[in-house]
Amino acid sequence: MEKGKQLYEGKAKKVFETNDPTLVIVSYKDDATAFDGTKKGTIRGKGVVNNRMSNHLMRHLEKAGIPTHFVEELSDTDSLVKRVEIIPLEVIVRNVSAGSFAKRYGVEEGIEFAEPTFEFSYKNDDLHDPLLNTSHALALGLATPTEIEQIRTMALKVNDELRRYFADLGVRLIDFKLEFGRTLSGEIVLADEISPDTCRFWDSKTNEKLDKDRFRRDLGNVEDAYQEMMRRVFGEEA
Ligand code: TMP
Ligand code: ASP
Repeated sequence: MEKGKQLYEGKAKKVFETNDPTLVIVSYKDDATAFDGTKKGTIRGKGVVNNRMSNHLMRHLEKAGIPTHFVEELSDTDSLVKRVEIIPLEVIVRNVSAGSFAKRYGVEEGIEFAEPTFEFSYKNDDLHDPLLNTSHALALGLATPTEIEQIRTMALKVNDELRRYFADLGVRLIDFKLEFGRTLSGEIVLADEISPDTCRFWDSKTNEKLDKDRFRRDLGNVEDAYQEMMRRVFGEEA
């Protein structure tokens, strides 16, 4: 499949047309941003890690019955995916307090929840991705009530699957952000990516951070953390 015209360039990925109107090519970059794009940098090798890990996890989730946009890995950084209209909601599931949850509610990081939490942000950097509830999402016409219910069910199922998957690799899945899309036929599928950019991963024994928080918080060893997650997922063959 050949890359056609560039349709879109985001902060971490580019999207290209193909000769099939139902498919697009996603190309992962090493560019990293934080705080709505105000902090910028490069994480060497990130494009490869995020592309390969995201594809691997989406294949795993498909097997568990969760529909995704994934079609085929084309190269280390490029993948063929279904063309979707992204629903502008950042769908966040948390198992342990961290990040904006800890800050907003004035609690320490690392508190294990009895049940996972589920929240939406409005995907809009100019507004700093404000938190919003279901009635707000409906009022803004971002999705239908049925779609919101499907998204919630799928996100919690993704959490069950991935929590177990990463636990076996000695990694605690603290929280993560998903995006969903509508295919041309109107089906809701898991889209975007699942990677150290969009999840918090802590080592199960040491609680060492193995994700993008190392970049956001200037903790150092950013590339090493991405490579370590690659090794945990793919073993030494990576
Ligand atoms: P938060 O604690 O900053 O709200 O982040 C929750 C999760 O969402 C965390 O795993 C990182 C991820 N995330 C993104 O994927 N994109 C973003 O823009 C932000 C702020 C967080
Ligand atoms: N999406 C954020 C940004 O605006 C990045 C992040 O914190 O993950 O750059």
